Amino acid sequence: MTTPSAGETYDFVVVANRLPVDSVTQPDGSTGWRMSPGGLVAALEPLMKASDGAWIGWPGAPDVEVEPFEHEGIRMVPIALNEQEIEFYYEGFSNDTLWPLYHDVIAQPTYHREWWETYVDVNRRFADAAARVSDHGATVWVHDYQLQLVPGMLRESRPDLTIGFFNHIPFPAYGIFSQLPWRQQIISGLLGADVIGFQRVADAGNFTRAVRRLFGYETKGSRVWVPVGDSSDATTGDRSHVRGAPVRRVIARAFPISIDATSYVELAKDPSVQARAKQIREELGNPKTIMLGVDRLDYTKGIGHRLKAFGELLAEDKVSVEDVTLVQVASPSRERVASYMQLRDEIELTVGRINGDYGSIGHTAISYLHQGYPREEMVALYLAADVMLVTALRDGMNLVAKEYVATRADLGGVLILSEFAGASDDLRQALLINPHDIEGVKDAIMQAIGMPESEKRRRMRALRKRVLENDVVKWSRVFLEELAGATTAHPVSHEHPDGRK
Ligand code: G6P
Repeated sequence: MTTPSAGETYDFVVVANRLPVDSVTQPDGSTGWRMSPGGLVAALEPLMKASDGAWIGWPGAPDVEVEPFEHEGIRMVPIALNEQEIEFYYEGFSNDTLWPLYHDVIAQPTYHREWWETYVDVNRRFADAAARVSDHGATVWVHDYQLQLVPGMLRESRPDLTIGFFNHIPFPAYGIFSQLPWRQQIISGLLGADVIGFQRVADAGNFTRAVRRLFGYETKGSRVWVPVGDSSDATTGDRSHVRGAPVRRVIARAFPISIDATSYVELAKDPSVQARAKQIREELGNPKTIMLGVDRLDYTKGIGHRLKAFGELLAEDKVSVEDVTLVQVASPSRERVASYMQLRDEIELTVGRINGDYGSIGHTAISYLHQGYPREEMVALYLAADVMLVTALRDGMNLVAKEYVATRADLGGVLILSEFAGASDDLRQALLINPHDIEGVKDAIMQAIGMPESEKRRRMRALRKRVLENDVVKWSRVFLEELAGATTAHPVSHEHPDGRK
C-alpha cells in the first residue's frame, strides 16, 4: 500500500457518499481495507487505473480519520463523519428525507432544519476535498442523492472543472418534489454540473420540469440554459435576467445504469458455483419451483407485496409448500432509521405467519435470510432460482434483475419485474407486473411456474441480449463521452435556445 503524497492532484475524481472499500480487521488485530464489490467500482476501476484518478468518499464508520491511501491501484480520499453527522446527514436528511421523498413518499419523509444544515456542511466538506485534489481542468463525477449540492459548490470554487452528476435513484414528479423546503437549493446545486444523469427518461423529465417551475429557465429536450453568475437572482424564479444574459448549457438526460455483466457470466460458469446451486436445491428439499427475492431490506422493494401474493396462493391451494419454496434474502440496511426498523418487524411477522400457517416439518414456505452474502453465493442462488421476483414499488434501476439475467446463460428461469423499477424500461421480455395489483402478481407467479421451456428460453435470450450489450462499462463510457462533449463543444457562452447570441 502506498500513500499518495499530500497535495497530490488528479485529473479524474469520483465523489460518492461511500468509498468502494470496507475496513476489515485481520486475525492479528491489524486493520486493512477490502474492496467492496459494486457495479460502480467495476465500471470505473479500469478508468481510475488508466487515468490519474481518485475516489472521494466516507469509509462507512464513525470518526475514521485516515490519510488518503491507495488500494488495488485506486487512490482513496476518505471523508470522516462523526456520529452526529452520520445521524443528521446520512440517516436523517439522506435516508429519512430525500430517500422516501424521491421514492414517491412510499414512507413519510421527515423534514428537520438541523438535518438540512448538516447536509449542507457535509456536502461542503466533500466539495472542498474535490476542489483540493482536482487538477486544473479535471473531470469530477459526483454520485447520488447524498451529494446533490456538491456540483454547485464546486462550480463556484473551481469553474475550470468539468462536472458530472449521476442520480442513482428516481427523481420524483414536481407535485412530490415541491414538498421539500429546500427544493430550490437542491436544484441549484445540481445545475452546477455540466451533465446531470438520471436512470429513466421520466426522471430527467421530472427534473427539467422542476427547473422550469422553480426558476423559469429555458429548457428544450435534455438541454437547460442556466444564467451564469447570478444564482441568487435565479432563486427568485425571475425569467427576465435569462434573456440576453450569458448562459451555460447543462444537459439533463437518462443514462440507464447496468452491471458488470461479464463477471456474472464468468461466475455462473464456475463449477463450484454450479455445484453450490445444486446443493441449495437439495437443501431446500428439491422443490419443483424455487422462487427468489434478493433485496436490501427497504420499504421501496415491495417485499410485503410479494409475500402477500405468495401467502394467498398457498391459502388458495394454487401452490403447495412441497412444490414451491420462496427464498427471500433481505440484507440488513440503514438499521437505525425508524421506518426501516418498522419494516423489519412487519416483514418478519408476515414471514413467521406464512411459515406457521402453511409450512410442514419437512418444508418451509419461505426461507428468510436477513444477511448479506458474497457474490459467489448470490450467483449460486440465481442459478438455483426458477422464478426471480422483483416487485419494487419504486426503484431507480434494480440491478438484481440484471444480475439474474446475466447469470442465466442456460436460458432457464423466469424474471417477474415491477414496472416501477427502472430496469423495466429495458427488460421488456420479463413478466411485467404492477406490485400493487396482488391478483396480477399471483397470475404472473402462476404463469412463471407453468411457463413452457421454449417460452422461457425465448424471453431469457432477449433479456440477456439487452443486458450483455449494455453493461456498466458502456454506461460509464457513454456518460463520460457526453460530459467531455458538453464542456469542450459548449463552453460558457451567450448561446440561447432560440439561437440568439
Ligand atoms: C442505493 C443508493 C446508493 C446506496 C445504496 C446502499 O443503491 O442509490 O447510493 O449506497 O443504496 O445504501 P447505503 O445507505 O447502505 O449506502
